[in-house]
Amino acid sequence: MSNKQNSPSASPSHLSIIRPDDWHLHVRDNEGLKAVVPFTAKQCGRAIIMPNLTPPVTTTDQARVYQQAILDAAGKQSSFQPLMTLYLTDSTPAQEIQTAMESGIISAVKLYPAGATTNSDAGVTDIRKCYQTLEMMQKLGLPLLVHGEVTSHDIDIFDREKQFIDQRLESLIKDFPELKVVFEHITTADAANFVIESSPNIAATITAHHLLMNRNDMLVGGIKPHHYCLPVLKRETHRKALVKAAISGNNKFFMGTDSAPHSKHNKETACGCAGMFTAFAAIELYAEAFDEAGALDKLEQFSSLNGPLFYGLDANSDKITLRREEWTVPDSYQFGDDVVIPLRAGQTINWKLVSES
Ligand code: NCD
Ligand code: ZN
Ligand code: ZN
Repeated sequence: MSNKQNSPSASPSHLSIIRPDDWHLHVRDNEGLKAVVPFTAKQCGRAIIMPNLTPPVTTTDQARVYQQAILDAAGKQSSFQPLMTLYLTDSTPAQEIQTAMESGIISAVKLYPAGATTNSDAGVTDIRKCYQTLEMMQKLGLPLLVHGEVTSHDIDIFDREKQFIDQRLESLIKDFPELKVVFEHITTADAANFVIESSPNIAATITAHHLLMNRNDMLVGGIKPHHYCLPVLKRETHRKALVKAAISGNNKFFMGTDSAPHSKHNKETACGCAGMFTAFAAIELYAEAFDEAGALDKLEQFSSLNGPLFYGLDANSDKITLRREEWTVPDSYQFGDDVVIPLRAGQTINWKLVSES
């Protein structure tokens, strides 16, 4: 794992930045939700909430109920705002997009290619089936968030993101040139370059774990189920390209943790679930990645300014402060009637959130 220590003189000991937002977050439901929401509510002003529950959140009415559960879990004192999304299916009616826009609570629609990732079975089997719905999203300015991987068995898992660009994304963008698209959790140099070269309405989120780790961290010295996520970690050249994009100052790239908690039982098994739990220390992990790259001065733009700019919102009005301080991550956190193993469990993180204003 990339957990280098920089000398205190190499960068400041404190960092005060505008409160960040998480533009890609899984909070699950029921007791799991109650356990994880407070972590994000403490750090972030807002978060884009992924709709891949069972059953998926496909309607505005379902999203309203889900949003209330998240607000309840955050607590009355919290000003955290969950920004809701709808799960796109082959049969999402264009009318649902109008309903979503009128409600004022839906910030985006999420495209999961069927079978690509956790709870994606109800996802899209053929994007052409969604063209009327996408037409309406383009017209009304509702962004499409994309899990960008093809699912064919004959495509190697490490090539699935690149193939998605070539086989799906290029034509989608050509057919809907004004549609706002976020290429979620990008993991390759190909994706970063594609976003850089596309029009201003195409952006991307980058996770902390893809900035900090490569596929060796999952496979060398024994298989690490808690480092397995989708899209899967890639080789070092890709990690470097992601860091370069994140620290570049290009406003198309912003923070999206893809914190995706699964119970220990569902990770440490013969067929383990994909997803890493990072929300407990989201901004600290990003701070570490930016610090390692000598670019702490670029963190605020990535974590707190570029996302709101893309979504047409104001940046948060308050600040948070981080201190350079090594602390040990707990071995686990309670998660419903099981536990969730956090990234870096039992190991250290070099930055700590010390104040929230
Ligand atoms: C996510 C999950 O568990 O919901 N898993 C993951 O590995 N990223 C789904 C997703 O974002 O693809
Ligand atoms: Zn995904
Ligand atoms: Zn995700």
